[in-house]
Amino acid sequence: MSPAPILVTRPIPEAGLERLQRAGLAFVAHPHDRALDRPALKRLIRGRRGVLATLHDVMDAEVFESAGPDLRVVANLAVGHNNIDLAEATRRGIAVTNTPDVLTDATADLTWALILATARRLGEGERMVRAGRFEGWSPTLLLGADLHGRTLGIVGAGQIGSAVARRSRGWEMRVLYTSRSRSESLESVCDAQQVPLEALCRESDVISVHVPLTDETRHLFGADEFARMKADALFINTSRGPVHDEGALAAALREGVIGGAGLDVFENEPAIHPDLIRSDRAVILPHLGSATRRTRERMATMAADNLIAALAGGRPPHLVNTEVAAV
Ligand code: DGY
Repeated sequence: MSPAPILVTRPIPEAGLERLQRAGLAFVAHPHDRALDRPALKRLIRGRRGVLATLHDVMDAEVFESAGPDLRVVANLAVGHNNIDLAEATRRGIAVTNTPDVLTDATADLTWALILATARRLGEGERMVRAGRFEGWSPTLLLGADLHGRTLGIVGAGQIGSAVARRSRGWEMRVLYTSRSRSESLESVCDAQQVPLEALCRESDVISVHVPLTDETRHLFGADEFARMKADALFINTSRGPVHDEGALAAALREGVIGGAGLDVFENEPAIHPDLIRSDRAVILPHLGSATRRTRERMATMAADNLIAALAGGRPPHLVNTEVAAV
């Protein structure tokens, strides 16, 4: 008997699964809420036509080989797709899709939650209260940084970076940005100025990272970039962990080279550098960028729609490797 055509690699919001059911597509949904290890992924993918994957599922030549020749589509439940070997998928005629736009606002909001938490030392405050160490108001207790009127540096002026910049108008911040291309909308809406990364590091009080992980952006932030920043600069990353060198960041915090870091992503997720866990200067979250109910439901239905379209022989609405024209 041939296996169900679709593998869903871990539990996702019901709305996505219902969509597949309504389209009459059988699937196997892995029941455990953790990333499949590689042998399990290679075993479970065998003979499938489509996979609904998440960002910890590494989809490369070996995995495609295990799937066999019927694999037509990998629908990633994320806007980022650095877990998928795009060139290899394209070579094999496998469509790769993602979930753009629907998570922009949730991720921009979470970025601001991190900026505020880092500037105003919310993690330290919470830990103090819960540990029973709060002894009443004090004029010198946990003094943080003001954001109003300061400089925000946006690294990557795509959808999410631009949404983070727009939200800064509430704090009347000066906005600098680096990006491969000019963003006229950021410049007109936020009066933002495009500058080289070096200048952005030197001049910003808050540096917020919104680039995809690629060969060019891996370790974009290392010891040299941290050394260029102001001593009270706050470094925020809600994109992908390997964009910063985690060891260099931990050292920069330990040695007071920068003021603080707000991190939703880590270089070897879910492992985190022990010095970041120990550091009171770091606010660390378990990759929650898009984690609102509505956003995750939209992501799940979007991924399902991509699968359905591809398996019906059409062009999926959010095709990443557009070279794979006919699926
Ligand atoms: C993405 O879509 O790339 C996010 O990191 C998932 O929340």
